[in-house]
Order: sequence, then C-alpha cells, then structure tokens
Amino acid sequence: MTQHVPKNILVTGGAGFIGANFVHYYFSRYPGRPVVVLDALTYAGNYANLQPISEHPGLTFVHGDIRDDDLVLSLLKEHKIDTIVHFAAESHVDRSIHGPDAFIDTNVVGTHALLKAAKVRWLDTGTGMAHRFHHVSTDEVYGTLGPEDPPFSEETPYRPNSPYAASKAGSDHLVRAYHETYGLQTTISNCSNNYGPYQFPEKLIPLVISRIMDSGEIPVYGDGRQIRDWLYVDDHNAGIDVILNSGIPGETYNIGGNNQTTNIDIIHHICDCLEDRYPGARSLITHVTDRPGHDRRYAINADKIRRELDFSPQHNFNAGIRKTIEWYLANESWWRKVMDGSYREWVRANYEQRR
Ligand code: NAD
Ligand code: TYD
Repeated sequence: MTQHVPKNILVTGGAGFIGANFVHYYFSRYPGRPVVVLDALTYAGNYANLQPISEHPGLTFVHGDIRDDDLVLSLLKEHKIDTIVHFAAESHVDRSIHGPDAFIDTNVVGTHALLKAAKVRWLDTGTGMAHRFHHVSTDEVYGTLGPEDPPFSEETPYRPNSPYAASKAGSDHLVRAYHETYGLQTTISNCSNNYGPYQFPEKLIPLVISRIMDSGEIPVYGDGRQIRDWLYVDDHNAGIDVILNSGIPGETYNIGGNNQTTNIDIIHHICDCLEDRYPGARSLITHVTDRPGHDRRYAINADKIRRELDFSPQHNFNAGIRKTIEWYLANESWWRKVMDGSYREWVRANYEQRR
C-alpha cells in the first residue's frame, strides 16, 4: 500500500459541516499535527463549528477564499503544507437550482485555483515535497439509479443532473486532469449523503429534527420515496483519513453507508425517535411539490475501498441517527443561531413556491 504521512495539512471548508467534523476527528487522532483551516465563512460556514477545538495549539484558522490563489500559495509556503483536504464547496442542490453561478464559481473555478497553487508550490518550484491533494466529492456526479440498478461503482459514467452535481463533476475532472497531465498526487472520494453534528438545517435530517423541535411543517418533496445511502459523518472522515494515508495517487474511491433508505422512512424514524419528547411529530409531515430533476435513487458500491484499503464504516444507521438527534437536542442554541435572517429568506424562497 502507498503510504503518505501528512505533516502539515490544509483543510478547505473546515468551518462547514463535514470539514469541521474532519478537523475534530483529525485532532482526536493526531493531536500533535498542525491543521490550517481556510474557509470563506459563507452562510454554511460557521466558526462556532470549531469552537470546541479553538484553543488547540495546532489550529490556525484563516478567513479567506479558495479562489484567492495568492492567499492559497502563501499559506502553502508559510505553513509548509504537504497535504490539502478540499471540502470547500457550495453544497446544497436546491440552492444550485435557484442560483447556479456560485456553484460554478466555488466548485469549479475555486477547485481550479487550488490545483494551480498546489502545482506551483509542489511541482513547478521544485520543492520535491511528498504531497497529496485530496478532493472530497459526491455520489451525485453519477446521476440517478432505477430501483433494480446496481449501485454506483468507481467505473459508473458521470451523468450529473443538478447544477450542484455538474459543478462537482467538473471539479472531479479537473483534479483527475492535474494528475494525468502534471503528475500532481491527487486522490478523490465520492461519498453518499452524510449526516451528523453541525450539519446546516437546510439539509434533510437536521431540517426534520429542528422542525420537530419547533413544531414546524416537515416538507417532503414529491412522494418521499426517493432513496439515499446515508453515512454518519465520522465514517466519511475516517474513510478520507485512510485514503490520505494509503490511497493511490490518481485513484478515486467511493465511500458509502451501506444504508439505502427512503426519505419518508428516515422522516418517520426521526419522528418516532422524538415521540416521547415531541408527541405527534408525524402530523407535521407535509408533502410539497417535488424538486425539479430530482434524482430518484443513490446507492454506493464501496467494495474498492474495503478491498484495497481495508476500510468499512463503523456506525449503523440506528447508532448514527441516535447520536445525531442527541446532538441537536443538546445544541439547540447552535442551530437557532445559524438560522438567521438569510436562512429564513432561503426557506421562504425555496418552500413558498412548493405549496
Ligand atoms: P457545507 O456547505 O456544510 O460547507 C461548505 C464549507 O465551504 C463552508 O464552511 C463554506 O463557508 C466553505 N466555502 C464555500 N465556498 C468557499 C470558498 N469559495 N472559499 C472557501 N471556503 C468556502 O458542505 P458539506 O456538507 O460540509 O460538504 C463538504 C464537501 O463534501 C463538499 O465538497 C461537498 O460537495 C462534499 N460532500 C457532501 C456530502 C453531504 O452529504 N453533505 C456528501 C458527499 C460529498
Ligand atoms: P438533501 O439533504 O438536500 O441532500 P441531497 O439532495 O444532496 O440528496 O436532501 C436529501 C433528500 O431529501 C433528497 O431526496 C431531497 C429530500 N428533501 C425533502 O424531501 N424535503 C426537504 O425539505 C429537503 C431539504 C430535502
């Protein structure tokens, strides 16, 4: 197995949902290794997501944009970065339908700016440093599956259906091209839907939990029979860690939760978990107009990462969702704070027209 030992790591989007969980995970595993977080603090990024580790001596937080190549290049130099883990993105499908431009700007142009800076630093200036550029991507690049189709493998052709998925597909292709053309040591992971602490309540699971706690409507797009393969966020980050250490440059690895469930079953399950505290939660369920171009089913074949890197997720759905619900119950002030005026404006824009 190829071995890479990251010394100085740059985490883009480290104040977002998965990126912040990654930094928590990384410090708990490698307390002596420094981490630089670069995050533009968009509506989805929140410094409070790093609060529990804000005193960690290894943490450097930089408020900035991945598209700023000068800034990125200076961070790579100043902090002797040898490993980039690239989470920063616009990540919400519904927002990409309302306003695709930001998705092209950050996901495509931003990823390209990072790749350019990495190439300059690690290849062109002849530092000869062992390095890794890990790009965090999604299973949505593969499009949608019918009920009987085999799950997505790394060989499945790209057929993105939403502007979000198309922008991630574009960034995946650029990462691949920088490996093939210039020899940048890249890896890519394509992961299924994540859930866990610090997820912004525009995404299904935290939206449902917060709506139940607020006695608000739970909006179900269409018939609610769409299927996703849900993965607890720490398992995603453990998979990324394994790829950083042992993944083969130029390769792509799918990461999945082995848990295909319909949206409506997820919603019923969360309502039932909260029934004791919030009785009658199922009555909040409201079917609304479907998302245009809504992918019907995602499912991941994660054989490659299991076979080649000996990685499998540790949480089953019941364990992961229990932890997640407990976190949202205990951190009501966190999610109330992030649901500011711009969040309410988004809810109005997205849901009013669905009635
Ligand atoms: P998120 O929206 O919660 O966080 C994104 C972070 O990126 C935020 O902190 C934001 O401030 C930052 N950011 C956005 N634009 C930036 C820019 N131009 N420069 C610097 N920082 C910027 O997203 P997430 O759910 O944590 O997803 C992280 C990554 O994982 C994304 O690349 C996403 O495509 C991928 N992914 C997500 C899921 C999922 O279920 N959430 C599944 C598979 C893959
Ligand atoms: P989401 O969390 O937005 O993730 P993605 O679209 O990337 O899979 O949505 C998960 C599923 O839940 C998706 O099929 C859309 C559906 N959904 C609803 O039914 N209602 C909602 O209000 C939201 C936000 C999503």
